[in-house]
Amino acid sequence: MKAIAIIQDEHRAITSVIEGLRHMLVEVAAGRIPVDHALIGAMFHYIEAFPEKLHHPKEDDFLFARMRARRPEAAPLLDALEAEHAVGRERFAELKATWERFRDDASTLAAFVEAVERYSYFHWRHMRKEEDELLPLAAKALADEDWKAIDTAFLSNEDPIVGVPASKAFRELFRRIVAIAPPPWGVGPEAAPR
Ligand SMILES: [Fe+2]
Ligand SMILES: [Fe+2]
Repeated sequence: MKAIAIIQDEHRAITSVIEGLRHMLVEVAAGRIPVDHALIGAMFHYIEAFPEKLHHPKEDDFLFARMRARRPEAAPLLDALEAEHAVGRERFAELKATWERFRDDASTLAAFVEAVERYSYFHWRHMRKEEDELLPLAAKALADEDWKAIDTAFLSNEDPIVGVPASKAFRELFRRIVAIAPPPWGVGPEAAPR
């Protein structure tokens, strides 16, 4: 059942990146910090490379699949969560397009801020549904052999989906985000004593 803690940790990591982006844009909109497109680019790369390519697909392929087999009555919840993974992919593509527009035309900042707010809320609701409804149900419903397969998938460093030592690459990416993010989200240049 190690996968439960891993999924919760992954949710915290994903949330910290999305919230970091959201709060950074609040500061940019208020004129308190300049916009840092390199940092925003690193955040988008993280969302593309981690939740979209690994976290959600592993939930679909391992956790949701085992739950479907053990608890047919959970199908409506699993269908809804799977549909949110698909919608999330579309929302992310739209969000990225909004950022690209903002990069070309700084006057579209308000639209980008609004799109990030919407994306952040969508993700927060999705993760709450998984943590409040699905994970407690899975903890009761799944057998040891199910958890063995799910744990192996989530503990895997050599991820089969992208074929790279995923956790190392993502740790480095996360360090990069923290290194260039201004305080209080990171330890970037703004944190240096003046
Ligand atoms: Fe999910
Ligand atoms: Fe999740």
